[in-house]
Amino acid sequence: MEPYHRLTAYRRQGMGGGLMDWSNQPRPFKRYPTAQPRALGDPRMPPARSWPSLLAWPPSPDPAAPPLDAPGLAGLLALAAGLTAQSQGGAYLRSPASAGALYPVELYFCATGLGWLADGLWHYAPEANAPRLLRPGNLAAAAARVLGGEPAGINFFLTSLFWRSAWKYRARAWRYCLLDGGHLLANLELALAACGLGQRPCLDPAGAAGGGLLGLDPAREALLAGVGAGAALQDGGPAELPAWRPPGEEPLAHHEKSDPVVAKAAALGESARPGPALAWPREPAPAQALRLNPGPPDGGPPLSRVMLSRRSRRNFLPQGLSANQAALLLAAALPAGGPVQAAVLLGPGGELPAGAHRYYPDEKALARLEPQDLRGRAARACLDQMWVGHAAMNLVLWADPEQLAATAGERGYRQAMLAAGRAGQRLYLAAAALGLGCCGVGAFYDEELAAAALLPPGAWPLYLLAAGPVKGKLPF
Ligand SMILES: Cc1cc2nc3c(=O)[nH]c(=O)nc-3n(C[C@H](O)[C@H](O)[C@H](O)COP(=O)(O)O)c2cc1C
Repeated sequence: MEPYHRLTAYRRQGMGGGLMDWSNQPRPFKRYPTAQPRALGDPRMPPARSWPSLLAWPPSPDPAAPPLDAPGLAGLLALAAGLTAQSQGGAYLRSPASAGALYPVELYFCATGLGWLADGLWHYAPEANAPRLLRPGNLAAAAARVLGGEPAGINFFLTSLFWRSAWKYRARAWRYCLLDGGHLLANLELALAACGLGQRPCLDPAGAAGGGLLGLDPAREALLAGVGAGAALQDGGPAELPAWRPPGEEPLAHHEKSDPVVAKAAALGESARPGPALAWPREPAPAQALRLNPGPPDGGPPLSRVMLSRRSRRNFLPQGLSANQAALLLAAALPAGGPVQAAVLLGPGGELPAGAHRYYPDEKALARLEPQDLRGRAARACLDQMWVGHAAMNLVLWADPEQLAATAGERGYRQAMLAAGRAGQRLYLAAAALGLGCCGVGAFYDEELAAAALLPPGAWPLYLLAAGPVKGKLPF
């Protein structure tokens, strides 16, 4: 993935500009005119509180959740990927954050043996908060072939439709598809746990088998990740399925184009078989690093309210974080042993020392590299989005490309970008639960940001998130 990442790095001197063609804007919803949405009834939101889930990797199923039924599934889907607000221009915003609010990620699931829903492959229609049946039948074993593990009652698949993002971001769109995929994945995992379902995430699904199961055209849509959930099944149906074509779709745009760089990058990271969760070796935190001790407020607000009210906030106040707020934000965002590493830039006025730090998720420890406040430099690196420098914390997620390649080959890049997006959504939600603001930033001059965050030589910045106190009233 080295050539893709280098080719799509932004450089201050090399920004070609380029206008968006508004007459060819992609439609936000994938529609199948012959498949009507199956009404699920009013969504029922699960009772789970925020902190137990936000601090667990993976979040553990809530034993108090009622068994999944149609209104419960409506709640689950709304939490994972539903419409939650309208922008001033009238565009719908959704429960996961999305670069440019373009929402390139689509959600499908195979249901088997639920009783109240037909067995088969369903596509989620956010505009109706309901699924459409695309392909009837017991597809559980075929789904397990894509995601690994045993056939299970409900298997989710996240794909990205390239043109939704490439329309604006061109070749860099594959980065945003993956980051957005991670955001939705985090929401799905949290929603499943809140609905009482055990789960098995797969960040490395079998690409060709998945494309066949979902009927994807690899030139325009790629399978990113999946999650197996629900009861284990005795009879999962056939593992190998005949070739199948999905129902006809409304055109995505007047003239949907294909970006060859994006399609090639997507194909390059695809695996033939589902890959296991990998161990990413990490150097231990230095002895002098500060051990953080996240102490969650008792339970916190209901997770569903946090997920449905989350929004990007950019109006940061010149205030710092308490040590516990910083500890909770970092512990919610980053699991031990992941492919992504983290630099933390803190401003003055908080309980932790200002400056550039490295965070060690395995030990929840923070080691200071430099006492100078580098947030202004990071903001300039983010295409001069100066509000970034006003946030109490800048979290710069990065990866070592040599380690990605050595551990997972070409698939390492996908895994790291998905993990960065997942960390981003978790950070947004933890910030919202604490009454703080947060905003993701995918637009940056790569080399400038690596320098501003004091990354080691050769490291790639993947994603930045700004978080801290903001002006105005927040729900919690
Ligand atoms: C991967 C990613 C990159 C983003 N990059 C930026 C950015 O560079 N600048 C910015 O102001 N917002 C950025 N955002 C925030 C989106 O604009 C925001 O999520 C979207 O408009 C939807 O609004 P919401 O988060 O309030 O639901 C980014 C979000 C994501 C997920």
